[in-house]
Amino acid sequence: MQSPERRQAIIVLDFGSQYSRLITRRVRECHVYSELVPATTTLAQLQQNPHLDIRGFILSGGPSSVYDEQAPSCDPAILQSGLPILGICYGMQLLAQQLGGHVAYASGKREYGPATIEVLDSVAKDEQNFRIFEGIAISPAQTEHLDLPRSETPLRLSAWMSHGDSIDRLPPGFVVLARTESTTVAAMASPQGLVGLQFHPEVTHTPQGKAIIRNFLFRICGCEPGWTASSAIEEALEQIRQRVGQERVICGLSGGVDSAVAALLVHKAIGNQLTCVFVDTGCLRAGEREQVVDTFSRHLHIPLVVVDARQRFLARLAGVIDPEQKRKIIGEEFIRVFEEEALRLSEQGEPIAFLAQGTLYPDVIESTSHDTASTATRIKTHHNVGGLPAEMSLKLVEPLRMLFKDEVREIGVALGLPEDWVWRHPFPGPGLAIRIIGAVDEAQLETLRAADTIVIEEIRRAGIYRELGQAFAVLTPLQSVGVMGDGRTYANVVAIRAVTTGDFMTADWAKLPPDLLGRISNRIVNEVPGVNRVVYDITSKPPATIEWE
Ligand code: XMP
Repeated sequence: MQSPERRQAIIVLDFGSQYSRLITRRVRECHVYSELVPATTTLAQLQQNPHLDIRGFILSGGPSSVYDEQAPSCDPAILQSGLPILGICYGMQLLAQQLGGHVAYASGKREYGPATIEVLDSVAKDEQNFRIFEGIAISPAQTEHLDLPRSETPLRLSAWMSHGDSIDRLPPGFVVLARTESTTVAAMASPQGLVGLQFHPEVTHTPQGKAIIRNFLFRICGCEPGWTASSAIEEALEQIRQRVGQERVICGLSGGVDSAVAALLVHKAIGNQLTCVFVDTGCLRAGEREQVVDTFSRHLHIPLVVVDARQRFLARLAGVIDPEQKRKIIGEEFIRVFEEEALRLSEQGEPIAFLAQGTLYPDVIESTSHDTASTATRIKTHHNVGGLPAEMSLKLVEPLRMLFKDEVREIGVALGLPEDWVWRHPFPGPGLAIRIIGAVDEAQLETLRAADTIVIEEIRRAGIYRELGQAFAVLTPLQSVGVMGDGRTYANVVAIRAVTTGDFMTADWAKLPPDLLGRISNRIVNEVPGVNRVVYDITSKPPATIEWE
């Protein structure tokens, strides 16, 4: 039985692959706890964490060659720990090189994209640690088009490859488990539970990838599936109680899922020691404030203070055109309002000692990993709005720090957060102010709110809201001539933006059905005064961003 005090864990060492965090997610999807740590982390450092019962390691892929001057390596103590290790791509090559095998330098040649893996039947299956491909059913449809020699009806699967170097001599004790047309060692293993895969099992382009990861976890590492949303909740509650004790906590609600779930967890842990604060900046979408009050105060009975700061924000935004300036003003004003409120609440009762925040695991990883540093810095400035007021001397409680977004959603549902809320698209802290190109005033906000409401209503009605990463309206300052009834109009252009995305770092424009776009356009032009033209943004990110500003 795993206890919240000590749970089975798989440690993923990050060698800089864009897929590193996906590996961690896949492991957790199999209900085994996993953490992603920098490749330089030592076994001794990991063993200092009394909550981790480490059952195995995964060495991620990465952009380097083992022959690069600065090639990242891992603590030899990890390789000698006796625990199972799965090396993926670069991780596999590192295993091979460090354990006495040989890696052939590719000198510019790369194998990139889908490949067919042929699992060698001749390998002794009685060896437990060779069972990385066991039980993986392949449908005939997946193999019949392939032009591989049919020696002994081998198991074949498609997999995603992305490598330059490859292994041309195995380390002592290893056997080849699979090959491709161009790679003689596509998978290798040793009886000690060291496994290497040249392809990426963590990506969806490797359809049997999850089953392969499952085999590593359950057959080779001997893990038991114990990590679930309810165990995450139990653990978070215990940690919050220990950290906070009898003190008071404040939590800023943004209207998004992260702060809502953080607040719910803290409330469940310490009840009315928590007060939530929601700041109405005047740049919210239609009905947002009412929804926060309804959900938190009426439905979930969590103490909530709503600060109506609309006038303050609009006064400071008056005449400001530069979007960076708008962001700065809203960020500063937000912190000021929040501080004033914290002070007021502190004076009314016991002083407030903690600030609860909905920081997620990807944010934590971004701030520690080397590969995403530059993008992460930029995203962080975005997220400052609604974030920690720098000068406040509050201690932090971050109950979602070790969780991925999908886990947070699961917990939200388990704690009674309405489905609608749980699946809401993200909304930027500066709100509609950055979706109005040019100066912001109440009239423009009204126009945008009305158009945005129509976009969301129609998308929900078409049943595709959840398929989209984000969808919204943008009010442009561009005016053009139109004709309505018998009259000439001269009014604004509204742009519609809808994207599909996994992580919001890249996004594709959504191929919305033309009749849906038509309905949205019709309704906006007919129902929203001041708009006579609607355009649809068909740019992906990059080169565009998701927001217009
Ligand atoms: P861009 O426009 O950079 O946006 O492609 C990527 C994602 O970040 C969101 N975004 C923000 N989120 N505060 C936030 O909390 C902000 O200031 C902010 N600006 C952009 C954006 O909506 C998209 O989901």
